[in-house]
Amino acid sequence: MLVNSHKYGRRTAMKIIQTPKEMSEFSEKMRGEGKKIALVPTMGALHEGHMSLIDIAKKNADIVVVSVFVNPTQFGPNEDFAAYPRSLEADAAACEERGVDVVFAPSASSIYRKDASTYVVEEEVSANLCGKSRPNHFRGVATVVSILFNIVRPHAAVFGEKDAQQVSVIERMVRDLFIDVEIIRAPLVREKSGLALSSRNKYLHGAQLETARRLSQALLVGKKMVEDGCLNIHRVKAEIVNQLSRSSRIRVIYVEIVDAKTSLPVKEIVPGKCRAALAVWLDQTRLIDNMVL
Ligand code: PAF
Repeated sequence: MLVNSHKYGRRTAMKIIQTPKEMSEFSEKMRGEGKKIALVPTMGALHEGHMSLIDIAKKNADIVVVSVFVNPTQFGPNEDFAAYPRSLEADAAACEERGVDVVFAPSASSIYRKDASTYVVEEEVSANLCGKSRPNHFRGVATVVSILFNIVRPHAAVFGEKDAQQVSVIERMVRDLFIDVEIIRAPLVREKSGLALSSRNKYLHGAQLETARRLSQALLVGKKMVEDGCLNIHRVKAEIVNQLSRSSRIRVIYVEIVDAKTSLPVKEIVPGKCRAALAVWLDQTRLIDNMVL
């Protein structure tokens, strides 16, 4: 499928590719022509955070592929797979506007055979943080990212630090499996209110949006403590929990302080090298956020 695009000075129209075969063939052709390909893996419901990933991909490659695939294997049985926002038409329009070359939007049945029985499991980084409260989540992420890498064959892939643990898992996977894809980290993007951009923010309304600001505010309080010289993990963590707990809408899932790059636990806070990461329930919505301290 081709989308016409003349007004943004694109040389060729943006393609929407829906089958792995067509995607691989396109990538092979581009590689054959010596073009560098960057992949931005997404689950759609694109927002400005994704657009910033696309901008970084464009700076690092000749061809930018955005995959839009709500990956069933990274959702738990009681999670929001069915409710997850899906808006392929709007996503494709936003990609076209931003100068993306290909939107790869495969069906679930083209990615996973009915009897698929092979997974990619990273066992150390995934054991922490979201991995504890979402069993098998990172197995699903590592598996689908490997599949996407095998189909799209990118030279580079861009992941946002909104999901900092996810980037650490992917970096470890790529290192351990000798996968020849450069992983590019992109900074987390926030609304003016401080709320980290996320597709799941679409679940929030009215007073919930007000409350959601507390996540970044709590992290900022932690950051200020470190700037003021408090390097005690327990005290900084406790204060972040305390800040979050001031709202009865919020239930803390975890607050942890980890290495900013590897997302592994640390024994002491080293300013600039540690990250406070948190997950909460805000009413029925699970939100995550993080900040380098
Ligand atoms: O970050 C996401 O949107 C997803 O976890 C990813 C990387 C696209 C894999 O499904």
